[in-house]
Amino acid sequence: MLTSILFLLVALLTITIVILARNRRRHKYALTSLRETLSLLEQRMRTRTDAWRHANDTLEQAEQRHRTTTSLLNETKEYLSSIINSMPSIIIGVTPSGHVTHWNSAAELSTGIREKKALGFRLQEVYPDLPVPAAMIEEAISLSEPSTKEGVRLEHHGNLHYVDITVYPLHSLELTGAVIRIDDVTLRQKLDGMMLQNEKLKSLGELAAGMAHEINNPLAAILQSLQNVERRLNPELAANQVVALALGLDLKKLDTYLENREIKHFLDGMDNAGRRAAEIVRNMLEFSRSSTRQLEPTQLNDVAHGSVNFMRNAIEFSMPALSQTLIIEEDYDSSLPVMSASGVELQQVLVNLLKNAAQAIQEAQREAPLLRISTRYIPPLAEIRVEDNGTGMSQGTSKQIFDPFFTTKVVGQGTGLGLSISHFIITQRHHGRIEVKSTPNKGTTFIITLPITQIG
Ligand SMILES: Nc1ncnc2c1ncn2[C@@H]1O[C@H](COP(=O)(O)OP(=O)(O)O)[C@@H](O)[C@H]1O
Ligand SMILES: [Mg+2]
Repeated sequence: MLTSILFLLVALLTITIVILARNRRRHKYALTSLRETLSLLEQRMRTRTDAWRHANDTLEQAEQRHRTTTSLLNETKEYLSSIINSMPSIIIGVTPSGHVTHWNSAAELSTGIREKKALGFRLQEVYPDLPVPAAMIEEAISLSEPSTKEGVRLEHHGNLHYVDITVYPLHSLELTGAVIRIDDVTLRQKLDGMMLQNEKLKSLGELAAGMAHEINNPLAAILQSLQNVERRLNPELAANQVVALALGLDLKKLDTYLENREIKHFLDGMDNAGRRAAEIVRNMLEFSRSSTRQLEPTQLNDVAHGSVNFMRNAIEFSMPALSQTLIIEEDYDSSLPVMSASGVELQQVLVNLLKNAAQAIQEAQREAPLLRISTRYIPPLAEIRVEDNGTGMSQGTSKQIFDPFFTTKVVGQGTGLGLSISHFIITQRHHGRIEVKSTPNKGTTFIITLPITQIG
């Protein structure tokens, strides 16, 4: 019994051991395959991680490139817009329908309209004064050719400007439109006008000089002959008495006859007229010497007096009725020092002002026409005033008088260049100022101030 129990136990133990051994083997096998699976998984994980890291790197690189490109783009954009903004020209970008896409600093400055008030709006609404019709923009775009208008008159806030306008068509991948470029050429126009006028004055001056020389000789002969006539009629001269005695002529009676018949008076008149003609010729010669336009020691009072003399003759000649009643007052400050200036140019200015004044006085038909020229020394400045009681002018006119070609006179009476040239001579050549004060129907005063550059 015990044996069989023991045997059973051994058998059970053996079975258990066998089972255990098999289980262990299975377990070991499972463990191995688990390990293999784990390592496979780890391997895959590594590969994935590597791939992910690579993708991440690529993405980062791409992002970096994008960042660089964006900053480059921004830099370029800023660079371009600072170029556009630093340009003195007005640059306006528009769509084909005329809506504003660009508005540079020059546009802001000269129109007073801020960029944000312009962008997106129709150009015609933003800037109605601008003479760029929609048709001009459309034409430039459809023909793919720039279209230009030169020397266009442009009134803005009451100021007259001359501008060149060019519309450039713009064709890019996404965008069609146009760029409008506007250049203020007022100064160029002024200079052109002045050069033209200078040329005219020069040829006029040359003509005057030639004429003056031609007139001078016969005039001198007339005056000389007159003097001779007067001398030979003089009863006091011995040579006259000898000839009269031989003829039995009473010189004293002849003298009385000449007196009673006013022949002496006529001779005096002839002499006066001849001398005045000689004075005109001398003035003409002086005026025509305009090629010698250098700065030289100049006494303004003399220039002013010379200009008045010149104008007196001119007024007598061209406005005889006015010259009968016109009073020209001269009031010069004797403390005014000699200064460095171009006397010829300043005379040109004063003659322009005096001529305008005389014309305004004539037009106003005053009973007591008055023209006044005065100088004053206000250290370190010299001041010259030219006043008239002529027509005066409105504020609108006063604002434009220094613009070249601005004139209110009929053709033949005015070129509209006198004051623009005067302005140029005073401001550019002498670094001075010229201003006007005027009241309609009362009169006008021009005030010139010049810095006194002492000589030596
Ligand atoms: N003293 C003045 N009185 C009234 N108007 C004047 C006077 N001076 C100038 N003006 C105005 O200024 C304009 C321009 O003058 P200016 O440049 O000399 O040209 P112009 O005499 O040829 O017309 C004149 O047409 C006139 O309308
Ligand atoms: Mg004039």
